[in-house]
Amino acid sequence: MKWHTLLLVSITSLAAGSPVKARHEVKESHPVPRGWRRTSRAHPADSISLQIALEQGDFAGLEQSLYEVSTPDHPRYGQHLSAAEVHDLIKPSEDALAAVQAWLAGHGIVSDHVQYSEAKDWVTVSLPVATVERMLDTNYHYYVHDDGSKLLRTPQWSLPQHLHEHISTIQPTTSFFRPQHRRKLPIGHETFPIENIVATVPSAVNSSIAAVCNSTLLVTPDCIRTLYGTINYKVQAADKSFMALNDFLGEVNIRTDAELYLEAYRPEAEAAAQQFSQISINGGTVHQKLTSNDTEDGTGEEGNLDAQTMMGLAWPIPLVAYSTGGVNPTYIEDAYTGPTDSDEPYIRWLQYLLSLPDNALPSVVSTSYDDDEQTLPFSYASRACSMFAELGARGVTLLFASGDDGVGATGYCVSNNGTNATTFLPEFPSTCPYVTSVGATAHYNPEVAVYDDHFSSPFTSGGGFSNYFPRPAYQDASVPAYLSKYVGENYAGFYNPAGRAVPDLAAQGSNFTIYWNGSLHAISGTSASTPAMSAILALVNDALVAAGKAKLGFLNPWLYSTGRKAFTDILSGSSAGCNTSGFPAAPGWDAVTGWGTPRFSDILELRGVGGNASYGKH
Ligand SMILES: *[C@@H]1O[C@H](CO)[C@@H](O)[C@H](O)[C@H]1NC(C)=O
Ligand SMILES: *[C@@H]1O[C@H](CO)[C@@H](O)[C@H](O)[C@H]1NC(C)=O
Ligand SMILES: *[C@@H]1O[C@H](CO)[C@@H](O)[C@H](O)[C@H]1NC(C)=O
Ligand SMILES: *[C@@H]1O[C@H](CO)[C@@H](O)[C@H](O)[C@H]1NC(C)=O
Ligand SMILES: *[C@@H]1O[C@H](CO)[C@@H](O)[C@H](O)[C@H]1NC(C)=O
Ligand SMILES: *[C@@H]1O[C@H](CO)[C@@H](O)[C@H](O)[C@H]1NC(C)=O
Ligand SMILES: *[C@@H]1O[C@H](CO)[C@@H](O)[C@H](O)[C@H]1NC(C)=O
Ligand SMILES: *[C@@H]1O[C@H](CO)[C@@H](O)[C@H](O)[C@H]1NC(C)=O
Ligand SMILES: *[C@@H]1O[C@H](CO)[C@@H](O)[C@H](O)[C@H]1NC(C)=O
Repeated sequence: MKWHTLLLVSITSLAAGSPVKARHEVKESHPVPRGWRRTSRAHPADSISLQIALEQGDFAGLEQSLYEVSTPDHPRYGQHLSAAEVHDLIKPSEDALAAVQAWLAGHGIVSDHVQYSEAKDWVTVSLPVATVERMLDTNYHYYVHDDGSKLLRTPQWSLPQHLHEHISTIQPTTSFFRPQHRRKLPIGHETFPIENIVATVPSAVNSSIAAVCNSTLLVTPDCIRTLYGTINYKVQAADKSFMALNDFLGEVNIRTDAELYLEAYRPEAEAAAQQFSQISINGGTVHQKLTSNDTEDGTGEEGNLDAQTMMGLAWPIPLVAYSTGGVNPTYIEDAYTGPTDSDEPYIRWLQYLLSLPDNALPSVVSTSYDDDEQTLPFSYASRACSMFAELGARGVTLLFASGDDGVGATGYCVSNNGTNATTFLPEFPSTCPYVTSVGATAHYNPEVAVYDDHFSSPFTSGGGFSNYFPRPAYQDASVPAYLSKYVGENYAGFYNPAGRAVPDLAAQGSNFTIYWNGSLHAISGTSASTPAMSAILALVNDALVAAGKAKLGFLNPWLYSTGRKAFTDILSGSSAGCNTSGFPAAPGWDAVTGWGTPRFSDILELRGVGGNASYGKH
């Protein structure tokens, strides 16, 4: 990670004028999410890697730039910002920086232990628990999850009053966010009739959709490439852009499995299995051998799905896999041996990506991990969302899975605000207005919103409305009309009709083939839809870059104005969940499949790089 370390700050001069014993006031409380149990008190010498987010100087200016460069017809359309331009907008005020530095100095924190992000809007420092508890006037405990995960957290923290306006969030404190992958395996998948798969491999690129896509069979690259029309497209500028995927939670991408997959379904791409890059961030695992524990708990299924799908569809566009560590802390009692591994993986990944120079950024990033929005504090969600905006302004397209449980998994749709009220459960980061949320379809001719009950809970496309982020302007022309026409008074009180609505679009998500642990498996989820959609957009970027045009960048302002015309409207199904039938698919935008599924050649045409009618229009 690229950090800028300030070595020249004089501690004593700063400490001299600082209010060392200022009165603390509560800055934030957030309920501990279900599934977590408070256990032992943290040892005073345990180490915390404290991440302090300073209030950004001009986020409104950044947001305005983001929309200007992402909105067709605006004079700045496509003129993505450089790293330096972004940093200049978001850098904290000198007052904020000085106040925070004085506060740290007042606690005896020497400046050469302090790290700053490029824009200095993040300050990171490793400290013993005892110091952090004094600084934040709080008590840390270990919290243990039902699944055995352990985190060092506190549900409430305070700051001296004069710092409240300068600091947006501090973590790890209140966020129990654990990005969970969105993949579903059929119950008893070991008996799945996978011998049928071979039949879907076509002998010629001109196969009809019916010949390669068949609901009784599994989804292979040939089906997706034929269905969405990329099969005749030749990548033109593979050295000029690349695509990326995220691994969290110890997920891995096994090269030998990818090799088997590509050999079977995209033989010309086989070498890519050994060539894609794996980057470890914050100790993220990149191992290549599944242990017996891995095969027992399915580690690598998500990572393999993402990598295999993207290479199978978008080869020879290079792929980079980012593996970010930071979920299950290594609990080292008594020893101040450096940071524990219990910090926030999303923020770590974002800090890493934002520190890269412009030419090292991917054109598209696929992320199949999310968590119920209510499990994270607003301050954290809000800052992570701003960081997505920074990436969008720099021209990166960010796609996130919308979730696999419709409006929420039945049995879990309970508010954590102390009332236990029934509530739908939108998924973050999909609900951030600066990213693109991907739902799932199934079947062909026509495609419908997915419904598959071969799982412990049915697989339906995640859809709904944020409780944290208001509806962005680009949704004003479609979402309120959808609600009044197709939802009416249904579900009143269960969701926030004024919130950012998801998803934005959709792609096939059921019964994808993957190789894992050396053999074929079937896998479903918006976890499949998201890498599929990401690969298709990586191909669009290839056509744009080859023609000397700007990359897609933040998709939504284009999608909701002209882009939607290049998507096939999905008309049936719903985001069933929370023991309701959820929001219905409907003409135009809907809260289950967004604008629908892509037609590649029409996207190229709308972007002014069409021309080859034979790309696969059907
Ligand atoms: C493939 O489709 C194109 C356009 O429809 C047609 O001209 C060509 O003859 C077809 N090729 C084969 C091998 O069927
Ligand atoms: C789908 O596959 C099944 C089983 O192989 C076959 O019976 C059926 O005819 C196929 N459907 C189409 C539309 O090709
Ligand atoms: C466009 O079509 C021509 C003729 O079919 C083909 O040679 C060329 O490779 C195609 N271009 C792309 C970018 O696919
Ligand atoms: C496998 O899991 C068990 C039970 O959680 C644990 O005790 C063991 O250390 C793990 N083995 C490895 C190699 O990680
Ligand atoms: C994984 O592969 C090993 C070696 O082929 C095999 O023994 C084991 O049963 C497999 N595990 C699963 C869960 O498929
Ligand atoms: C779902 O709703 C039905 C009827 O309204 C009710 O009987 C059932 O208990 C509910 N199930 C859950 C899991 O809430
Ligand atoms: C909410 O549910 C939890 C867990 O079932 C229970 O302990 C708590 O008392 C409930 N609170 C209210 C206000 O009903
Ligand atoms: C708690 O959450 C429910 C469901 O989202 C909402 O209707 C209610 O107003 C909230 N109550 C409080 C006190 O925040
Ligand atoms: C996935 O495949 C299984 C097994 O053939 C089938 O029962 C199920 O309906 C399929 N799901 C979808 C959504 O097509």
